[in-house]
Amino acid sequence: MEKHIYVIGSMSMDLVVATDIVPGKGETVLGNSFFNAPGGKGANQAVAAARLGHHVHMVGRIGNDDFGEYIFQNLKNNGVNAEYVKPTEGKSGTAHITLNDNDNSIIVVPSANNEVTPEYVKHVLESTNVGDIVLLQQEIPAETVEAVVKYCYDHELISILNPAPYREVSDEVIEKATYLTPNETESEKMFKGEVDQALERYPDKLIVTLGELGAVYHDGVQQVEIKGFKREVKDTTGAGDTFNGALAVGLQRDYELPKALTFANLAASHSVTGMGAQGGMPTLEDLQDDIEV
Ligand code: RIB
Repeated sequence: MEKHIYVIGSMSMDLVVATDIVPGKGETVLGNSFFNAPGGKGANQAVAAARLGHHVHMVGRIGNDDFGEYIFQNLKNNGVNAEYVKPTEGKSGTAHITLNDNDNSIIVVPSANNEVTPEYVKHVLESTNVGDIVLLQQEIPAETVEAVVKYCYDHELISILNPAPYREVSDEVIEKATYLTPNETESEKMFKGEVDQALERYPDKLIVTLGELGAVYHDGVQQVEIKGFKREVKDTTGAGDTFNGALAVGLQRDYELPKALTFANLAASHSVTGMGAQGGMPTLEDLQDDIEV
């Protein structure tokens, strides 16, 4: 039976300002441009996986506002199954993004994403099958992340926890998640500066992403570096989400971990070539010249 990918997580409208000057406290500056585009780490991961041609279910909440409608339509336009996306009273999540000097800084207001509760996701989890892949991030309540990781562990589902944005993660979640995919900053916080030791302690589980330099994990014998791909950067927003969505697809295609990570790095490198979190996310055809898929 084909494995399905379930993304349990956030959906937001990204409100993006490009500026040469980032204002200090109490300061006003003139920016260069503004656009809004669908985002949210969960929705981005779902769209990334669906663009690579796989069955993806998004599980989350939108507000009963125009942003919510836009977010919902965008999932459907990208071939994501949105049956488990339900509106709730109030506003959709928003992310307030500043683009400056080839990088971004983001303030997320979760709003409807706070309604992705353990109760809300329970009936979805009950419809999964052994071996299905569940992707999680941290723009939804911590108790939901905990409950889902434990459910996956108990029911032989593969869980990928992308601990972004960073908040404390319990030891039990770290032990029970199948894969953890922090970036360098998140891994430093998560393991209190002892990342090399953590890599060794969690072989084939802890994968630290390094942007265009690739990713590193430990295979039980030694640290393994998976190379990245350098491309001209337009917008780095969503590169980590593309990595996670593509990693799920690679695992779903039964790739060994090194190949799944190369595939994820390659997809993430494409994502920075377009504007907006989802603008540069590749299709499978886009990757075929660089990797046998
Ligand atoms: O990872 C990028 C995403 O983070 C953006 O789309 C924004 O919504 C924030 O959640």
